[in-house]
Amino acid sequence: MENRIKLNNGVEMPRIGYGVYQISPSQTERCVRDALAVGYRSIDTAQCYYNEAEVGQAVRSADIPRDEVFITTKLWGGRGYADTLRSIDQSLDRLGMDYIDLLLIHEPSGNYNEIYRAMEDALKIGKLRAIGVANFLDDTFKDLIDNCTIVPAINQIETHPFRQQTEMQRMCRECGTVLEAWSPLACGKNGIFHNPVLVSIAEVHGKSVAQVVLRWLYQRDIVIIPKSTHKERMIENLDILDFSLTDEEMSLITRLDRGKSLFNWW
Ligand SMILES: NC(=O)c1ccc[n+]([C@@H]2O[C@H](COP(=O)([O-])OP(=O)(O)OC[C@H]3O[C@@H](n4cnc5c(N)ncnc54)[C@H](OP(=O)(O)O)[C@@H]3O)[C@@H](O)[C@H]2O)c1
Repeated sequence: MENRIKLNNGVEMPRIGYGVYQISPSQTERCVRDALAVGYRSIDTAQCYYNEAEVGQAVRSADIPRDEVFITTKLWGGRGYADTLRSIDQSLDRLGMDYIDLLLIHEPSGNYNEIYRAMEDALKIGKLRAIGVANFLDDTFKDLIDNCTIVPAINQIETHPFRQQTEMQRMCRECGTVLEAWSPLACGKNGIFHNPVLVSIAEVHGKSVAQVVLRWLYQRDIVIIPKSTHKERMIENLDILDFSLTDEEMSLITRLDRGKSLFNWW
C-alpha cells in the first residue's frame, strides 16, 4: 500500500503522521526531533497547542529539506476575513516557514464560511498548499461544501474503534475530502489497550494493540496522526506496514463502534 495519499488538489500527504496535542512547549522540540529521526514526515500542530514555534524549530534543526516534511496547523477562534489572513501570517511567523502544507479550521465556530474564503485566497497566493477543516460533522460539513469554492482536502475528526465515523467517511469521500483521524488510539480511553477483541487480534499477528488499531484505520484509507512522547512508541506506531488485517478481523473491530464521542467536544 502506498504510504502517501493524494489530496484532491494533487498535493501528497503522508498517511501516517505525528500529532503534538498536549505536548508542552518545553517537550515539543525534543519530541518532534525524535519523531523526525525515526521516520515521521508529517507533523500535526495547532495554534491552540501553543507549540508551533517549537515544531518549526525542530524541523529546522533536523536537517531535513523543508519540502520533505508536511506541516499541518489549525486556526483557532471565530474570525473575519482580514483577521484570518493576519492569523495565518502569525502561524507562519511562529513556525518560521514560508508556507504551511495543510491549514485546517479547528472547529466550526464563528463565521467559518468567511474564514474559509480567506484560506482559499491564502492558498491561491502560495502561503498554504492545501486547506481543510476539523470537527465539521454532518450539517456544518454540508454547509461548508455548499458555500466553498475549493473543496476541503481533509476533514480531521475523532475516529477510533469506539467512534468509527463510517457515515462521515462516506460523506467526505463523496465530496473528495480525505478523512483524518484525531485520537486514533482513543487517547488511551475506554480501556483500549486492554480491549479483549483487540488484544486477541494483536496476539495473532505478534503486534501491539496500538499497531492493530492504527493498521485498521490505515486499511480504511484514513490518515492517522498518533501522538506519543516516547521514542519507542513513536517507532511502534509507524511500524504497521508489514502485516494486514483479514476481512474477518476488520469486521470484529467494526463491532466495537459505539457511535458516540469519548470526549463530548463535538
Ligand atoms: N482537531 C482536533 O480537534 C484534535 C483533537 C485531538 C487530537 N488531535 C490531533 O490528533 C493527535 C493524536 O490524538 P491524541 O494525542 O489525542 O491521542 P492518541 O494519539 O489517540 O493517543 C495518545 C495517547 O496514547 C498513548 N500512546 C501512544 N502510542 C502508544 C502505544 N504504542 N502504546 C501505548 N500507548 C500509546 C500516549 O501516551 P505517551 O505519550 O505517554 O506515549 C497518549 O497517552 C493529537 O496529538 C493532535 O495532533 C486533534
